[in-house]
Amino acid sequence: MSQLIIVERLHKIYHRHQPDEMTALQDISLQILAGEVVALTGPSGSGKTTLLSLLGCMSRPTSGSIQLRDSNVAKLPERFLAKIRRETFGFVFQQYNLVRDLSVLENVMLPLYPSDQSLREIKKAATAVLDQFELAGMLKKKVKQLSGGEQQRVAIARALVADPEIIIADEPTAHLDSELAQDLLQILAVLNAAGKTIVIATHDPSIYQSSLVQRRFDLRHGRIVEEHSR
Ligand SMILES: Nc1ncnc2c1ncn2[C@@H]1O[C@H](COP(=O)(O)OP(=O)(O)O)[C@@H](O)[C@H]1O
Ligand SMILES: [Mg+2]
Repeated sequence: MSQLIIVERLHKIYHRHQPDEMTALQDISLQILAGEVVALTGPSGSGKTTLLSLLGCMSRPTSGSIQLRDSNVAKLPERFLAKIRRETFGFVFQQYNLVRDLSVLENVMLPLYPSDQSLREIKKAATAVLDQFELAGMLKKKVKQLSGGEQQRVAIARALVADPEIIIADEPTAHLDSELAQDLLQILAVLNAAGKTIVIATHDPSIYQSSLVQRRFDLRHGRIVEEHSR
């Protein structure tokens, strides 16, 4: 497998040079291979979400480098990052981040903007992915009318609609019962079999101990304290 992401000596300091300065990540180095499933674990506050946001080009490090294929994304201006984000990553958040007053279809169409595709093509792509998750019957329903499990499937459909190479999931099972957590694992397994690289932050052992996860980086106070490989 080829190297997809190479992180070297990453530091992230929030509110730098202010009284509430907070070092969230210290000296993180790691590599992620194309097609791998990697978990980030550690207690609350250990830096998982911060690291995911850096890997996913949602924010920039205070120092260190993040090589995504051929480009060092650590120093790119926001407008370039936004493009890379849209084209490379699909995000599944703990809170789903769905727009509750929009319909299922509208929520899943959102990541495809801005685009050179026509509205019709965008609708078609969103409908196709919703169909895969057996949500085709509820395209017009507002998200706030859905159950937790349905919302989760919408969130995953939205993460996948642009056919991203890398899926980033932050505590994706935090609000799910164990049955839905197993459903999610199955979906991730299918995606991984189709070649997607997956990075999951979780403190749910049923996720990070599953056979799907090939490598796990355990964080404490912003440092990697252990790497487990399968
Ligand atoms: N935007 C922010 N501003 C200031 N501090 C933050 C911010 N985001 C996270 N932190 C702090 O950074 C540390 C790591 O947080 P986080 O990455 O969210 O950890 P985890 O996801 O493992 O719970 C925590 O101490 C948290 O309070
Ligand atoms: Mg977190």
